[in-house]
Amino acid sequence: MTESLLPDANLPLPRHIAVIMDGNGRWARRRSLPRLMGHREGVKSVRETVTACAEMHIDALTLYAFSTENWGRPSREVTGLMRLLRNYLVREVEEMIENDIRLVAMGRLEQLPGTVRKALDRAMAMTAHCRGMVLNLALSYSGRTELVDAVQRLAAGVARGEIAPENIDEAAIGSFLYHSELPEPDLVIRTSGEQRISNFMIWQIAYAELFFADVPWPDFRQPHLYAAIREFQRRDRRFGLVPGAISEKAG
Ligand code: IPE
Ligand code: IPE
Ligand code: MG
Repeated sequence: MTESLLPDANLPLPRHIAVIMDGNGRWARRRSLPRLMGHREGVKSVRETVTACAEMHIDALTLYAFSTENWGRPSREVTGLMRLLRNYLVREVEEMIENDIRLVAMGRLEQLPGTVRKALDRAMAMTAHCRGMVLNLALSYSGRTELVDAVQRLAAGVARGEIAPENIDEAAIGSFLYHSELPEPDLVIRTSGEQRISNFMIWQIAYAELFFADVPWPDFRQPHLYAAIREFQRRDRRFGLVPGAISEKAG
């Protein structure tokens, strides 16, 4: 990779990058392979993306790995995905610690098989002291179920008399979302050429920059990540204001 293809060192990087990792099945189908081979190849892209983001000192990287809707896929595919996920968590934890990466997860984690839950809990505990990048895995996740969970907790607070309805504002709602301590994503990347959000962080990405990469996830590697960030650096984020009025907010 030549120097010119790196993100511009003089411009801000996104603080939080969120990735909709799509296109594993089509990658495999094009090679007449079973879909699971695409998911397996996709793990290599996960490794490369995680390492590259940690090296750039990105604050947070969220990877959409499995949606609540994905439970409806054929059971063989779901089982294979869960096995890959467990293996990833077991094998990568040392590397995460070396790279000072703290692992967290969001979604209906109680729906994951026990073996995955165990590996996830162990990896999160073993990296809890890390202070570099936060790697947030969206597992059994959907933006709408996240809002349902948030509204239920908010309503419980109201019922207990701890929250007055008139005090419910954007910040209050945001505080009930999963990992509300993380900055909102500045950049959302979706691979595979599909241009949709598929129920991903629908509250938090209200003002995110969207980048759609034509390559399927297994082909998405460091040069594609750098290209997405360079494109982000060229965007003019206005947050509904006029040009030049928002530099402190965008930084
Ligand atoms: C993304 O690839 C991985 C998951 C959703 C788990 P897909 O499996 O959706 O691949 P395509 O979109 O069918 O090609
Ligand atoms: C989104 O991809 C979910 C993940 C990447 C985990 P999907 O393949 O499930 O989404 P649709 O079906 O194309 O909307
Ligand atoms: Mg897909």
